Amino acid sequence: MTGDIAVTDDGAVRIIRMNRPEKKNALTLAMYTDMTRALQEADQSEAIRCVMIAGAPGAFCAGNDIADFLKAAGGGLDPRGHEFLHALARRQKPLVAAVNGVAIGIGTTMLFHCDHVVAGATSTLSTPFLKLGLIPEAASTLLAPMRMGYARAFSMLVMGRPLTAEEAKDAGIVNTVANAAEVEDVALKAAREIAALPPRSVAVTRGLMRSPLDDVIKHINTESAHFKELLQSDEARAAFTAFLARRK
Ligand code: COA
Repeated sequence: MTGDIAVTDDGAVRIIRMNRPEKKNALTLAMYTDMTRALQEADQSEAIRCVMIAGAPGAFCAGNDIADFLKAAGGGLDPRGHEFLHALARRQKPLVAAVNGVAIGIGTTMLFHCDHVVAGATSTLSTPFLKLGLIPEAASTLLAPMRMGYARAFSMLVMGRPLTAEEAKDAGIVNTVANAAEVEDVALKAAREIAALPPRSVAVTRGLMRSPLDDVIKHINTESAHFKELLQSDEARAAFTAFLARRK
């Protein structure tokens, strides 16, 4: 564990916290590894019945670390982010998200894989992949249009327009909008409620309700192939460099 991901078990609920507040919880390769392991261990544990993912104060997640993207543009994409997406899609245990502050890039696309999402009233969700010369990932090109309809998905995924928490609720991504100070309590309450249900019934129902795993994995892999190629593009390199060099 790096310290940038904190994993704690609260009874039958495993809490995975992205804990890199000085970088708005932008995800490094080591953080992907820790989150992958935490999800896989939760699947193997009979004691854990639900997982909750949250950020450290200040943000839910500002997306992939852009310095890592710039490194990947020069030296090839490390598979750890991709492995996390597979673990996220394949996991068996229900996942609740407590979204406080910004959710950007993978901070938003991971929400399409969650089973229950609580967002703070001032939170925003955005996927500015195209502005970085990239494409959306995490099977969001499949899951977003299914969830919110093509028109809204196009505004978000292609045009990069952010959604407020209320808009995300209307779009079917968020279950509950709560005061920022109460997001985690509300999310934890939901996670405990899910954890108290008969686990086999939850697992079977959830399995029947979710999009066919093969389709989701196929989309993750296809997006990933394009993503890798686009990371090397002049537009992407210029966008990463501009972000890292920007003045505040
Ligand atoms: N990768 C690397 N560093 C990031 C980051 C990211 N995705 N997001 C934020 N950071 C860093 C900033 O560089 C800054 O570091 P510094 O203090 O060493 O300069 C620190 O986190 C705080 O961010 P800052 O931009 O100063 O805070 P803010 O409140 O003004 O804005 C964000 C926060 C998240 C809106 C803004 O940082 C942002 O747009 N980040 C990029 C999001 C993004 O495009 N992600 C990729 C999606 S595919």
